[in-house]
Amino acid sequence: MWGGRFAEGPSAVMREINASLPFDKRMWRQDIAGSKAHVAMLGARGIVSPADAATIAAGLDQVAADYEANGVPDDLALEDIHMLTEARLADAIGPVAGRLHTARSRNDQVATDFRLWVRDAIDQVLAALAGFQTALLVRAEEHADSVMPGFTHLQSAQPVTLGHHLMAYHEMIARDVSRFADARTRLNRCPLGSAALAGTGFPIDRDATAAALGFDGPTRNSLDGVSDRDFALDYLTAATQCALHLSRLAEEFVLWASQPFGFVALSDQWSTGSSIMPQKRNPDAAELVRGHAGRIMGAMTSLMVTMKGLPLAYSKDMQDDKPPVFEAHDLLGLCLAAMTGMVESATFRTERMRQVAEAGFSTATDLADWLVREAGLPFREAHHVTGRAVKRAEELGVGLDALSLDELTAIDARIDTSVYDVLSVDASVASRTSFGGTAPANVRAAIRAARNI
Ligand code: ARG
Repeated sequence: MWGGRFAEGPSAVMREINASLPFDKRMWRQDIAGSKAHVAMLGARGIVSPADAATIAAGLDQVAADYEANGVPDDLALEDIHMLTEARLADAIGPVAGRLHTARSRNDQVATDFRLWVRDAIDQVLAALAGFQTALLVRAEEHADSVMPGFTHLQSAQPVTLGHHLMAYHEMIARDVSRFADARTRLNRCPLGSAALAGTGFPIDRDATAAALGFDGPTRNSLDGVSDRDFALDYLTAATQCALHLSRLAEEFVLWASQPFGFVALSDQWSTGSSIMPQKRNPDAAELVRGHAGRIMGAMTSLMVTMKGLPLAYSKDMQDDKPPVFEAHDLLGLCLAAMTGMVESATFRTERMRQVAEAGFSTATDLADWLVREAGLPFREAHHVTGRAVKRAEELGVGLDALSLDELTAIDARIDTSVYDVLSVDASVASRTSFGGTAPANVRAAIRAARNI
C-alpha cells in the first residue's frame, strides 16, 4: 500500500507485531458497511465517477459474500481488515478499487468501524440485560413472601424476603442498562471524514456518511475523531460495573449453594461434579462469573493504560484497543447468559432460609421498635432492653418469640403480650412498609413498577 517509498519489505517479526488482522477481522461487516457508505458519498459528490462508485460498491458486496462463505483469511502481509478488504476488492474489480480510499485514511476508517462494532455490542448487551431482568422479576414475584435472613457483615441482621433480595439485583441491572444506553448515545457520532487527522480538501459530505451508517451526525473535530476511544472505554466501564454486579450475585450463589447455608440448589445444568468426590455439586458457573469479572476489569484497565499517555492524534498503540473490548464483550455475554440460566433454574430452599432467619434473633430490632412505639422508651434504652432479651434467649437456646411473657416482663415490666405480634419473621417483614422496604406488598409494587418501565 505504501510501496513507493520503500525498497524492502518488513521483517517477519515486524509483520507479526504490526498485524491486527487476526483479531480485527471480527469487524469485517462494519468495514464493508463503512466503505459502502464512503463510496456512495464519493459518487454522489462526483469525487469518483458514479460508474466507478457503483463498480466499487458491487465489488464490496462480492468481497463480503466471499468472507461470509469462506471466512476471513489470516493474511498477515496485509496487516489488517482494511487492507485485506481493499486487496480483495482489487482482485475482484481491478485498479478502480484504488479509488475507494480517496478522502479517507485508515485512521478514520478504523475509528468508524470500531464505533459500529461497539454499537452492535451494546445492542447485544442491552438485549441480554433485558432477559436477565425478566428472570429476576419472575423469581422475585414467585418469592415475594419467602422470608430469608438479611445480612450485614454476613451476620444475621433483619429478615427480608428473597423477592426483595432479587429485586436489589434488578436495581443494579437497571443502572447497567442506563449506563450502556448512555454510552450508546455518546458513541453515536461518526468520525469518517476526519481522514488521517486534519480532515480533507475533497468536498466530502460527512452528514451523508454519518446518516448512512445510522449515526446521529459527524464528530466535530478531526483530531478527536481519529484519536478518541472514549466510546470503547465507556463500553468497558459499563461492562465492568455490570460484571461486578453479576459477580456479587455469583458470590451469593456460591455461598448459598454451600452446605452450611443450603439456601439454593443449582440445577444440574448449572452445576458440575467432582472427578474424585461423588457427592459434589459444584457451582462452577457462578465461580467463573466471579472470575470473569476480574478479567473484564482487567480489560478496562488495559485500554485505560494504553490510552493515557498518547499524544494526539493516532498512534499505533491504539491498535491494541480491540482485543480488550472483544474479550470483555465475549466474557460479559457468557456471564449474562450463565447468570440468567442459574437464576431461572435455581431451586430456592425457602424452608431453610426461614429457619436461618428465625435462628439469628433477627427480629431484635422489631422488639426494640415495639418498646419505642408501645412503651414509649427512648430507642437507646429499648436497644439495651432488647439486648438483655437476646442474651436470655441465647442462654435458653430459643428464639426471641419463644421467650415466655414471664421471662420478658422480668427483663422489662412494660412488655405485654401484644409484643408477640412483632416477634415473628413474617410480622417483621410485613411491617417494613416504608418506600423501598421489604414488606411483600412493597416488593410486589416494585415488581409491577419495574415491569411498566
Ligand atoms: N490496524 C490499525 C488499527 O487497528 C488501523 C489504523 C492504521 N493506521 C495507521 N496510521 N497505521 O489501529
